[in-house]
Amino acid sequence: MAISDLHAESRPEPRRVGRRGFLQAAAVGAAAPVIATACPFSTASAAPAASAAAAGTWQHAIGAPRGSDIAVAVGREQEARFGLLFKKLPAFAPPDELLGTLARSMTDPRPPGQGPSDHDRWDNPDITAGYTFFGQFIDHDITRDTTPLPAQQTDPHGLKNFDTPMFDLGSVYGRGPDVDPQLYDPARPGYLLVDEHDGLHDLPRAADGTAYVGDPRNDENLVIAQLHVAFLRFHNVLMDEGRGFAEAQRLTTWHYQWLIVQEFLPRICGPKLVDGLFALGTKIPWYRPKNRNRPMMPIEFSVAAYRFGHSMVRPEYEMNDADTGPVFAHPGDPRDDLRGSRPVPANYKADWTYFFDVPGRPRPAGLNLARLVDTSLAMPLHDLPATVVSRDSKPLFTDLAERNLLRGKRLGLAAGQDVAKALMQRPLSNAELGLTDPRWQGKAPLWFYVLKEAELSQGGRRLGPTGGALVAGTLLTLLFLDPTSYVHVKPRWTPSTTPFTVGHFLQRAGCA
Ligand code: HEM
Repeated sequence: MAISDLHAESRPEPRRVGRRGFLQAAAVGAAAPVIATACPFSTASAAPAASAAAAGTWQHAIGAPRGSDIAVAVGREQEARFGLLFKKLPAFAPPDELLGTLARSMTDPRPPGQGPSDHDRWDNPDITAGYTFFGQFIDHDITRDTTPLPAQQTDPHGLKNFDTPMFDLGSVYGRGPDVDPQLYDPARPGYLLVDEHDGLHDLPRAADGTAYVGDPRNDENLVIAQLHVAFLRFHNVLMDEGRGFAEAQRLTTWHYQWLIVQEFLPRICGPKLVDGLFALGTKIPWYRPKNRNRPMMPIEFSVAAYRFGHSMVRPEYEMNDADTGPVFAHPGDPRDDLRGSRPVPANYKADWTYFFDVPGRPRPAGLNLARLVDTSLAMPLHDLPATVVSRDSKPLFTDLAERNLLRGKRLGLAAGQDVAKALMQRPLSNAELGLTDPRWQGKAPLWFYVLKEAELSQGGRRLGPTGGALVAGTLLTLLFLDPTSYVHVKPRWTPSTTPFTVGHFLQRAGCA
């Protein structure tokens, strides 16, 4: 079935479904990555980290998650923790220098210091900025690596020891109250621990500010940290309503999955494509993992398509009526930035109406819109600070666009046009993509292709057909293959109130 058929006016049954079992585990900080010590662009995946996250370290940036090198290190036909969707397609390996030049051209012209309320044509009128961080939250939930360190070291390609990617909020619940008691309220069994200080709710933290959290990456910036707190509080509200732990956990997880299917994916990939793929369930033709109980994570998704989120990041965010913070402090800017791994400062308490539409609350003038899904990345992302890319790594790559492009080459990704054709799309030519250098040999890197396709086909308001198929196809297949998800257990389940948006979720959690 061609993707374009999915765009046809097919209004399948509303998306209900449901089932299962759960998760393994997460020792707090156990899987914290090492990005920059080893050369980030050797083909080896990220070696397991020795130490818990240092304050301010940007842990999200696991450049080559363990096992994502399987195509180059073990074979293009292989599947384990990771695998290729299109195993027969050749790897695309343009010169590094050409990739570097392209990366430097992918710059969002908006200078840091310009207030978010001062909208410009690179702001996405269809997506508010909260969905950028919701997208990052989802990424962390399905890419957690809780395999104990020694096992990681003996299995660097993730062939045996790895977590199954599932939307099970392992980043919130860890391995449960018995194994991860530090995440739970000792005074109230079944409740998740939430810290309160300076008039705000925060992650529970040790004296040095390190958070007790199922996935330390959810504390790397002050927006995702506070979004994580909303999940803790949502669970606790369900407990307050008299439910037991298991039921509160199941319902919190199902509401989260519902938001992915009903809110996030239609915004990012388009409602028609999502409807069409939802109707296919586990039969999405291009993603049929060999092991359905332990589906591989597609490299095309992790190393290219799902990094679309990088183009949505703003250089700064209005956190509330009073304060705006740069995503990364830049020279000459005295303001504190939004890096996390420390108690949330009072002045950066998130007023969620600046990030999501909250029912019954007017949109503030300074509403943060996501940046367009296109080939321009905010300036601060072109010069990542030392807490994201340590300055000891040689050669040093601080440009996120360059890291993504080089990573795609190192891990053996196919070219955008080849993937588009495999998805039965008409491939965009390099002339259409604006790549004129003959050294491209008529092909484009997949990450760039996905962003440019969004720009050309959707005005950057969401992903185009190739990017949408890779993102929605992967997330929906993982949902349907997950025996705990609501699509298995109770096919006609819906949240207590519908429509149920992220705004409703935040209100129900008492956060908005
Ligand atoms: C808030 C700003 C963000 C920064 C500074 C950031 C930075 C990074 C860095 C440095 C890497 C490693 C690059 C490499 O060496 O290959 C990375 C990986 C990645 N990023 Fe981001 N990122 C951000 C937000 C996002 C968002 C919003 C999404 C998606 C919605 C996303 C999706 C990914 C994915 C899928 C990877 C691959 C590894 C993984 O699965 O975690 N990132 N990011």
